[in-house]
Amino acid sequence: MSHDAEPAAQVEYADFDQPNIARMYDYHLGGSANFAIDRTVAEQALRIAPTERDYCWANRSFLGRAVRTLLTEHGIDQFLDLGSGVPTVGNVHEIAHQYDPSARVAYVDWEAIACHHARHLLGPEEHRVTVTEADVCDPETVLNSAGVAGLLDFSRPIAVLAFGILDILPTTDGAGMVSRYRDACVPGSALAVSNNAQLSRTDQEVEGLRSLLADTSTPNLYMRTAEEVAALLPGYALLDPGVVPASLWRPDQPVTEQEAQRGNVYGAVGILP
Ligand SMILES: C[S@@+](CC[C@H](N)C(=O)[O-])C[C@H]1O[C@@H](n2cnc3c(N)ncnc32)[C@H](O)[C@@H]1O
Repeated sequence: MSHDAEPAAQVEYADFDQPNIARMYDYHLGGSANFAIDRTVAEQALRIAPTERDYCWANRSFLGRAVRTLLTEHGIDQFLDLGSGVPTVGNVHEIAHQYDPSARVAYVDWEAIACHHARHLLGPEEHRVTVTEADVCDPETVLNSAGVAGLLDFSRPIAVLAFGILDILPTTDGAGMVSRYRDACVPGSALAVSNNAQLSRTDQEVEGLRSLLADTSTPNLYMRTAEEVAALLPGYALLDPGVVPASLWRPDQPVTEQEAQRGNVYGAVGILP
């Protein structure tokens, strides 16, 4: 593991008193990298919107299928995971290495606990996996960091992964943000995104979730329609089935429409021609 990539990533800088979305998400998925404050607020989220755990699982399992598809069907063996979160069930490198042990994965997150936990979990993987603590809204810093520039070969296709992050950034210009990563990629590269959506959530649930997140380190929650998600991938050719509720993106098992709606998340994967 390259520690050069995140010289400032000392776990004591983590905010233990403010609930954090990376750790709440980890709690919903059954992970252990979370604190009492995260668990309390995550439980409140479940009381406000009982489908919150469905969201997490729908999102996370779509991530796995997208990585597998990009590797096995498109031969992409390099991944730049923006807002990678706490390494938990179904990590990108674990999925990728099942199919290609030499695949390279650069994780990027700005949350100290997520990065700290990742370093411990990964161990001596420095030639294949890095963790960079950085703000994804600063693409130049991310792209020039040791963990990204030192690992990924930008003269070959790279899959940029933006799962569960474009909806919580301070900017609603998600397309503008990801375009700066797209511009660093060669044809044959990919962009995979997921975004919170209001599929089965009521207005009251959405407002409740927004109020709850207002007290976290990521106070924004920008739901996107299918058209708005498509607009995040300009210049990319969308893989079938296009923009769909994430559970319906090439599911491994049959999924009912109702189950897909409960996920409240859209997913899409595109390839740069
Ligand atoms: C809901 S989690 C998604 C985790 C993972 N991508 C997934 O879909 O399973 C969102 C992650 O984005 C991270 N994040 C939010 N804003 C960020 C920013 N500006 N820069 C880097 N990471 C950020 C959070 O710390 C959190 O780990």
